[in-house]
Amino acid sequence: MAEEKRKTVIELQNVKRYFQVGSETVKALRGVSFKIYEGEFVTIQGTSGSGKSTLLNQLGCLDTPTSGEYFLDGVAVRTMSKTERAHLRNNKIGFVFQNYNLLAKTTAVENVELPLMYNNKYNAAQRREAAVKALQAVGLGDRLDHKSNQMSGGQMQRVAIARALVNDPAVLLADEATGNLDTRTSFEMLVLFQELYRQGHTIIFVTHNPEIAEYSSRNINLRDGKIREDTINTNIKSAAEALAALPKPQDD
Ligand SMILES: Nc1ncnc2c1ncn2[C@@H]1O[C@H](COP(=O)(O)OP(=O)(O)OP(=O)(O)O)[C@@H](O)[C@H]1O
Ligand SMILES: [Mg+2]
Repeated sequence: MAEEKRKTVIELQNVKRYFQVGSETVKALRGVSFKIYEGEFVTIQGTSGSGKSTLLNQLGCLDTPTSGEYFLDGVAVRTMSKTERAHLRNNKIGFVFQNYNLLAKTTAVENVELPLMYNNKYNAAQRREAAVKALQAVGLGDRLDHKSNQMSGGQMQRVAIARALVNDPAVLLADEATGNLDTRTSFEMLVLFQELYRQGHTIIFVTHNPEIAEYSSRNINLRDGKIREDTINTNIKSAAEALAALPKPQDD
């Protein structure tokens, strides 16, 4: 199958994550296996407590599984040291969080330059150039020197996406990236994610909003720490069309 020829960016093999709370064992992940191929836009869904954040923490190398294997871009993660994992994380993963996680009172360019500070391939001028390019790509070329507190929620999320992309990661991990935004701004963000998908970026988007799955290429549904459903979306809706169909905001 054509599917098999694509490059595997992420592979989970029977990943379990148990937490010991007092005398009780909480089984947050009970054996999760999947492959994510280069260029997929995957939504991960499930009700509260189904294990989404726990799974994202595994994928983001922020936590290690109790058992099972995780390969990120062909590299076995479980046996790595903390330092090695941090290095892998900095190089291979771009994070986008619900709360943006930008440095306050810091300009857009400075926020986006941050991940490159640990990358000795970039000098100061090259850092700035890469940050400006990333901000232009998310439509913020005219807000380069605005500080975080001088921007709207949607603009802050664009800065966060530019920061996630500046290092050219293997995968973009988003955790409820539209969770704090109003409907219109959420759709603007989805338009951007669909653009990144068309450009070939690999995206994993965790959300408990089922509507968002209509805009991704594949949806993984979790229940009680296991995969309940893993479906390819053959009829991806256009976020741009949905945005255009929304009632126009009042002109002033
Ligand atoms: N550090 C921890 N210690 C103990 N139990 C935990 C820990 N982290 C998560 N859990 C438990 O694991 C299960 C899955 O939690 P998780 O946060 O992954 O769910 P979620 O799908 O992200 O939920 P939500 O939609 O509410 O964010 C829950 O029962 C939770 O209580
Ligand atoms: Mg969660």
